[in-house]
Formats: sequence, structure tokens, C-alpha cells
Amino acid sequence: MVGRDVPGSTQAPLETIRELVGSPGRTHPYPRYERLREHGPVVPIRPGLTVVVGYAECDAALRDNRLRVQDGPSYDSIYPEWREHPALRGYIDSMLYRNPPDHARMRRLVSGGFTPRRVSELRPAIERLTERLLDRLATAGAADAPVDFIAEFASRLPIAVISALLGVPERDQSWFRRIAADVTIALEGITNTQELAVADVAMQDLGNYFLALIERRRLDPVDDVVSALVHAGGERLSEQQLVANMMLLLTAGFETTSFLLGHCLLLALHNSDHAARLRTEPEFALGYVEEMLRFEAPVQATSRWAAVEVDLLGHLVPAGTKLVLILGAANRDPSRFAEPDRFDPDREAVQPLSFGAGSHFCLGAPLSRMEAQIALPRLLRRFPRLSAAGVPVRRDTWVGRGLDELPIRLG
Ligand code: HEM
Repeated sequence: MVGRDVPGSTQAPLETIRELVGSPGRTHPYPRYERLREHGPVVPIRPGLTVVVGYAECDAALRDNRLRVQDGPSYDSIYPEWREHPALRGYIDSMLYRNPPDHARMRRLVSGGFTPRRVSELRPAIERLTERLLDRLATAGAADAPVDFIAEFASRLPIAVISALLGVPERDQSWFRRIAADVTIALEGITNTQELAVADVAMQDLGNYFLALIERRRLDPVDDVVSALVHAGGERLSEQQLVANMMLLLTAGFETTSFLLGHCLLLALHNSDHAARLRTEPEFALGYVEEMLRFEAPVQATSRWAAVEVDLLGHLVPAGTKLVLILGAANRDPSRFAEPDRFDPDREAVQPLSFGAGSHFCLGAPLSRMEAQIALPRLLRRFPRLSAAGVPVRRDTWVGRGLDELPIRLG
């Protein structure tokens, strides 16, 4: 079955997509997803472009290796100038833009440094970093002064954690945070040449920084991911691939985790019952964070490209079609989740698609979950009278969904 034409449907799918990438749609995407869903779980928009809003269909698409990510050769046909832009070159050399069999090889090599042991050993470091940032927050918000939770905490913790993982010294972290924000623009999709120019410069500086770090670890290895990757026995990544994947680790986990933390607190500020349970029930944070990932996916969409004609759970996708997989819509699919628009931290077997699925499943998922599960209860216990101090400011982007500012008072 190809996507249905719904008689009486209120809005043509193309119109809805246009709204989604415009400002009101970015702020309120969920009613627009429901309008798309009226046309079925797989919605052809125009020849060559289809969107997927169903949970089962998104999940199947993410696991189907005939549906490919846009890699270097495919970028050549749509934007041949990409090689001239460090911001694009930097990412396209990483695993996120690789297809089989190249992807599995690169992911295996990077995962060799990013082991579950190394991630779980970060727990005490995350606890320490959280406490230090809470001290900092206490100073900034002393005498009940309003303080921005995103600037003072949510954007700092992920950078501090990834820096600990990569072995970036503390003195470089504020520079690191600024530059990571500039290069992350390239992940949203380049929309204007001015932003691309900023991202290009940032990517070049970051690339040079990582090359110097690699050289230091080559000469003087320590127990961190970079040393493990540089000194791995057997097959290794080229220097350029190593730098690209370090960029990816930094930027893929920075704003996404900050967005998760921001949404987690925003809801707790307006629900005293949840806030109280987060303070007192250690297990509650696990379900709360998982449900928040479902409810407000920090990455709302990703894409794939059909190398051949693919039957996606009964929906024929012609060869050459670009598929936009709307993770934020899949997470609210009523055929998978009862009352999908209700935030229910006690929901069982949530399994949101917020970290993707299949071969590109997010490498940092355990890390970002752990950060939110540790930080949130500690924050609320330390400041039991925490309250909102103004209107939060939402990032004006569709794919990246989160807050840029969340003013609070510590009480
Ligand atoms: C809440 C936080 C995060 C969210 C929502 C998120 C989301 C995602 C998604 C949706 C993908 C799959 C993209 C696709 O299949 O097209 C992905 C991949 C990836 N993420 Fe995350 N991510 C988060 C945190 C992190 C962190 C903390 C790190 C690293 C420390 C990280 C590293 C990666 C990497 C390396 C990939 C590429 C995996 C591959 O291509 O095989 N992410 N992430």
C-alpha cells in the first residue's frame, strides 16, 4: 500500500511539512505530526520525498540496511561543494555518515575506545561534576537571584562529561563549549551561508585542537578514549577519521543532552508531585527520564535514502526516495503508546526511538541517560524550593528540540 489520500483530510501533507520547518511548526510540532498521521504512517510528500510518522515503520526503516544514510558519494550528487567546507567534511568522515560495510568497521573501531566499562566508570565522575556544577549554580543564584539553568548547568554537564571521556583538560572546556555550539549548526542542516562560514571556522579550529590532543596521547598515553584509539592494536582509524569521530562524539552528545536536562526540569517545575518523587524515590528518575525522551525527543527527525525499492511494512518506497523519519512523531504514535500526549513517568516498556535504532543506534545513549538520572534528583534535593523565574526560551529549530534558556530561582 502506498500512503493513502485521505478524503476530508484537513491539510495536504506538503503544506504541513512547510509549516513544520517554519517558526510556529517548530514551536508546536505535535499537532502537525497528527495531521500527517491522518494520511497513514508512511506519507509520500512528492516524488522522491516521503515522511514516516509511525513507530513500527520508523523502527523498521532504521533497521533496514537498504535504507542508507547520506554518505560522501551521495552528497557529491546533491551538494558537490561539500568537500570545500570543513564543517561538512568534518562530519561526513565520521560513522554517522557511513554505510555498510564501512560503517560497521568504523563503529567497531570507535566502540573499542568507548567501552561499556569506560562509560560505567564515568558514574563517579558524573556525580562529582554534578556536585561541582550545583555549587556553581548556588553561587550564581545566591540571594534568590534568577539564574539560567541551561547556561549554568544543562549545557555545562554534557561538555564536562564528554571532556572527561575524551581527556580534554578543564581549562579548555569553556572554549570547547563555545566552539561545539558553532559546529553543531552543521548537524541541523545548513540553512544559510553565514552560519556555514561560522561552522567552517569552528570546525577547523576544533580539528587542529583534536590533532594536537591525538599527538599528545600518542607520545604520552593515559586512560581515556583517545589514548585507547591511538594505541589500539590491529586495524586503526586514519587520523582524519579519528578527528571526525571525536567531533561527532563531542557535538552529538552536547546539545542533545542539554535539551534532555532542560525538558526534564521544565516539567518538574510545574509538577510538584513529580519533583517530590524525583527527590525521594531513586528508581523514579529512570522512568521519568525515559518518558521524557519519548515525550520531547531532543532529535526530532533523521533521514535515510532508499538505494533500491523497499517494502516498508507494506508501504512501497521507490528507489531514490529520501525518507524523513520523524522520531518525535513515532514516539507519539497512538498505535504504540496509549494516550501518547500524556506524560506518564510510570509508563512501562517505553522504548522511545529518540536514540534511533539498528546499526546507527546512538553510541552515547547510556551516557546521556546516566547524566540525566544522576543530575535531576541531586538538583531537586539540593534546592527543594526551586521555581520558575520567567518564560523559557525555546531553540528555533525543528530537528534539534530543546530550550536555550530556562530561568529559575533556587529559593
Ligand atoms: C539525549 C541525548 C542524545 C540523543 C537524543 C541522541 C540521539 C541520537 C540519534 C537519534 C542517533 C541516530 C541517528 C541516525 O540513525 O540517523 C544518534 C547517533 C549517535 N550518537 Fe547520539 N544522542 C544523544 C547523546 C549522545 C551522546 C552523549 C553521545 C556521545 C558521547 C552520542 C553519540 C552518538 C554517535 C557517535 C552516534 C552515531 C552512531 C552511528 O552512526 O553508528 N549521542 N544519537
